[in-house]
Amino acid sequence: MGGGGGVAAATTVVESREWYLAAIAPENLPTSDHLKLRTVTVSLDYESIPDEQMALQLLLISVDPYLRSRITGRDNGIRDREGRVPGFTAWVGIKVIGNPDPGSNVFISAAAGGVGMFAGQLAKLKGCRVVGSTGSDEKNPAEREGLKNLLNIVGKEVKMEGFLCGSFLNRFGEFSQQMEKYMKEGKIKPKHKIDQGIESFFENFVSLFSSSNVGKVIIQVAS
Ligand SMILES: NC(=O)c1ccc[n+]([C@@H]2O[C@H](COP(=O)([O-])OP(=O)(O)OC[C@H]3O[C@@H](n4cnc5c(N)ncnc54)[C@H](OP(=O)(O)O)[C@@H]3O)[C@@H](O)[C@H]2O)c1
Repeated sequence: MGGGGGVAAATTVVESREWYLAAIAPENLPTSDHLKLRTVTVSLDYESIPDEQMALQLLLISVDPYLRSRITGRDNGIRDREGRVPGFTAWVGIKVIGNPDPGSNVFISAAAGGVGMFAGQLAKLKGCRVVGSTGSDEKNPAEREGLKNLLNIVGKEVKMEGFLCGSFLNRFGEFSQQMEKYMKEGKIKPKHKIDQGIESFFENFVSLFSSSNVGKVIIQVAS
């Protein structure tokens, strides 16, 4: 993962800062022993770019929980290839898989996160009663209620189903149309935290697992 390189007109060699995996982190959170920052020199000479590849400059980095599964050293972890589209994940969960009836109760965990903030708003637009849980009061859930008795979900015949949003890409056009309309009408409001500089990646990544992030976490590495 790299960024922050500036392309100077007079040269085709740029310096790029990148985080690299120095050691796999099979358990717990990665530390500075696992993820390290370095500066590399990248040549943009035409001959140095392999066939069918391209050189590009990163402007924004999306910081997502799925990245954790990439550094465990296990190949059989769930690969969340579409983690960069939290709105789409929420839309598939609420509109396609869950599809709750108006008036029904919808519970959203990590409700202030990248996926949760969209899922809660989409369920409200469907006329549902939404209860979200967050790791702290500062994340300001609309209603502070939790599941008081997990056994209640048996009597209510709650359905649990896993999904990967990448399996629903055939619905992406429909999602884009609906979401664009909701956003233009102010019915769905995204929340972002945009930090500056590739150096802040580690701190922002760890924040996903320590309850200190709110909304979608993004890092701006160039403008
Ligand atoms: N299936 C798919 O296709 C798909 C696609 C995208 C994302 N996802 C998954 O959806 C989840 C949310 O993604 P996101 O981008 O919206 O992340 P996020 O909510 O922005 O960040 C993670 C949040 O999870 C909560 N959390 C952290 N550790 C936890 C723990 N041990 N137990 C319970 N909650 C914990 C924290 O919220 P609180 O402080 O509020 O507890 C944290 O802010 C992730 O698991 C991600 O991998 C799945």
